[in-house]
Amino acid sequence: MAPLVPMSQPWVEKYRPRQVKDVAHQEEVIRVLNNTLQTADLPHMLFYGPPGTGKTTTALAIAYQLYGPELYKSRVLELNASDDRGINVVRTKIKNFAAVAVGTARKAGYPCPPYKIIILDEADSMTEDAQNALRRTTETYSKVTRFFFICNYISRIIEPLASRCAKFRFKPLSEEVMSSRIMHICNEEGLNLNAQAMSTLSVISQGDLRRAITYLQSAARLFGSSISSSDLISVSGVIPEDVVKSLLAACRSGEFDVANKEVSSIIADGYPVSQLMAQMLLLARMIFQMIKRQGYVKSLGKPISAWLMGQMSIYSCWMSPARLSALFSTCRGRWSSKSS
Ligand SMILES: Nc1ncnc2c1ncn2[C@@H]1O[C@H](COP(=O)(O)OP(=O)(O)OP(=O)(O)O)[C@@H](O)[C@H]1O
Ligand SMILES: [Mg+2]
Repeated sequence: MAPLVPMSQPWVEKYRPRQVKDVAHQEEVIRVLNNTLQTADLPHMLFYGPPGTGKTTTALAIAYQLYGPELYKSRVLELNASDDRGINVVRTKIKNFAAVAVGTARKAGYPCPPYKIIILDEADSMTEDAQNALRRTTETYSKVTRFFFICNYISRIIEPLASRCAKFRFKPLSEEVMSSRIMHICNEEGLNLNAQAMSTLSVISQGDLRRAITYLQSAARLFGSSISSSDLISVSGVIPEDVVKSLLAACRSGEFDVANKEVSSIIADGYPVSQLMAQMLLLARMIFQMIKRQGYVKSLGKPISAWLMGQMSIYSCWMSPARLSALFSTCRGRWSSKSS
């Protein structure tokens, strides 16, 4: 077995870019922010987009580049979802920090603008009352404090607050960008990841680089410096594709007993239902797209399209292998009658 890799700090922190220019794949955002850094005059900002795409990293990097390591602590307040997110925190902690004017201290090599920064990470988990209270706070103290709101779902930020900010959308990371960051970490940590393992890592982490790095570190910790595709699958909690495929095949057979036996064996293996249903849905979507490409979509009838479009609860499908069975035999019947 390959030697185990000694662990210290989490790799998501160790390999978090420290400079805005090092954030990958968010070119438009970075261009605008680099210009803003030149003038050191920032508006309130709202970063939004899918997980693990660089939002928190970018906010921390801007703050760091503005103040440097020494002034950072006194000029920047970071709050995230583990802090209280109700109206009280706005009235106390945020207001107290926002209201106090900054000192005149400056550090050579850093712009040190005459305002502080409050980074409100995972702002979409703040209550509506708290967000409403922030409307006034952002305006009242904007001379001495600028806000960075960070969230996944911009629709959960109330419009009056969102409209006070410059908005930046973070794109999901492409497979190439993920691979190049992962390769960089592998080189630094002396890991050996073959092409198949790399492609598995991209698929199971779905554009979320944090997830990819975490899986990589867990696999390195458990399996040593040579990491295979199946090592990554076992640390990720993803259900092996064979298991999902055989359940689908059992359902498509139209035999209740066959489907029931498959379900019992999956339950015995302890795979989580939600994960199984998510993967089945993905697989079924792929089949659906294939059928669509072949021009059979109109003939599929209501059951499959309702299921695929999420109109039928996936849990009710899970609870009833008979229903899944019926669904697939309908498809099979229609498909074969069309093909013949
Ligand atoms: N665009 C990127 N360029 C380089 N590294 C990145 C990028 N996006 C994410 N990472 C890596 O992934 C880790 C997590 O990124 P980050 O905390 O910025 O994600 P996020 O967008 O804030 O996600 P979430 O919405 O889940 O909070 C970072 O430590 C960094 O190593
Ligand atoms: Mg974040």
